Amino acid sequence: MSHEQKRRTSRHNVVLHCGDFREVCDSWPAPTVIVVDGPYGVGGFPGDPYSHAELPAWYEPHIAEMSARATPETTLWFWNTEVGWATVHPVLERLGWEYRSCHIWDKGVGHIAGNANSKTLRKFPVVTEVCVQYVRRVSIGANGSAQPLRDWFRNEWMRTGLPLYVANRACGVKNAATRKYLTKDHLFYFPPPEAYESIARYANRHGQAAGRPYYSAPDRDRPYSPEEWARMRAKFYCEVGVTNVWREPAVRGAERRKKTAHKCIHMNQKPLRLLELILRASSDPGDVVWEPFGGLCSTAIAAASTGRRCYSAEILPEYFAEASRRLAEYVPQSKARSADAIAPARETARHRSA
Ligand SMILES: C[S@@+](CC[C@H](N)C(=O)[O-])C[C@H]1O[C@@H](n2cnc3c(N)ncnc32)[C@H](O)[C@@H]1O
Repeated sequence: MSHEQKRRTSRHNVVLHCGDFREVCDSWPAPTVIVVDGPYGVGGFPGDPYSHAELPAWYEPHIAEMSARATPETTLWFWNTEVGWATVHPVLERLGWEYRSCHIWDKGVGHIAGNANSKTLRKFPVVTEVCVQYVRRVSIGANGSAQPLRDWFRNEWMRTGLPLYVANRACGVKNAATRKYLTKDHLFYFPPPEAYESIARYANRHGQAAGRPYYSAPDRDRPYSPEEWARMRAKFYCEVGVTNVWREPAVRGAERRKKTAHKCIHMNQKPLRLLELILRASSDPGDVVWEPFGGLCSTAIAAASTGRRCYSAEILPEYFAEASRRLAEYVPQSKARSADAIAPARETARHRSA
């Protein structure tokens, strides 16, 4: 095996790199999804700091790299402990990420075994992690005069000289256009492509001639198409029955990669079911997924099983080698998990049996 092959494995539309994420990601295409599962501040693997207080400084340059390559369609899922996430959240916000939702991974009472000495620790046993969903804060316009998407959308209408209520006529609705799409307050909704198209068309037909084109980027002479407009926000597909509490035991059985019968290879191996869930929720088959901190590259396996393309980096050769073996052993299971939503009833049953 050549030196290059030892540092790079590829199969099933997945590319694994052995190296520092920031040194290898230049060759990766722009991501639709980024699954961030890096340091937790618990000393869980070599290089993981011993305190959450060190996480912001650690994450900042890595997230800056992700932000530079993200698009308005990109979703970032940030896995961590509750306090680890709380500490890094300001960094994510500063680097252009908008909080959407916090999901609690509840590993269940089965996770308590051997994990807590509450007399010494003086707290209840911890059986959770969080997976927090972020989307890009989108601005439109030339550098220097870029405006948040919602302000831009309203200001383009204002430029036409038409009264606000006329936008309702443009959309064929009673008052939804002014109430949802042109509002300045927190009740703003992203105009769906069909509403956007009606408003942009009306503005360009009936707005003051001198200001045309409306709803166009500064460097072009036509409005964004409905398809381009749809790409101004992150994808999201909600599966029925899924909530922000995910009841799923820690990885066990055949899925758990082990050194010996009693020793795991990586403490942080994530369940494929949860990774598949977030990939299905925030991307389409064929889309690009980034896994900057691979470990055993569970996201890459989840991407293969859901038909996404994935680029992963793992800095430690031992984990990279195991992730490569895992990928080589992976057998595509046509329908298997893609139709397997986390329905609460079934999940509760799984949880109890854990
Ligand atoms: C929390 S673990 C990921 C576990 C993974 N989600 C799984 O299911 O196996 C984080 C991993 O990131 C790796 N890592 C840390 N810094 C890195 C960097 N700069 N580039 C690439 N990998 C890094 C660590 O060696 C560790 O294995």
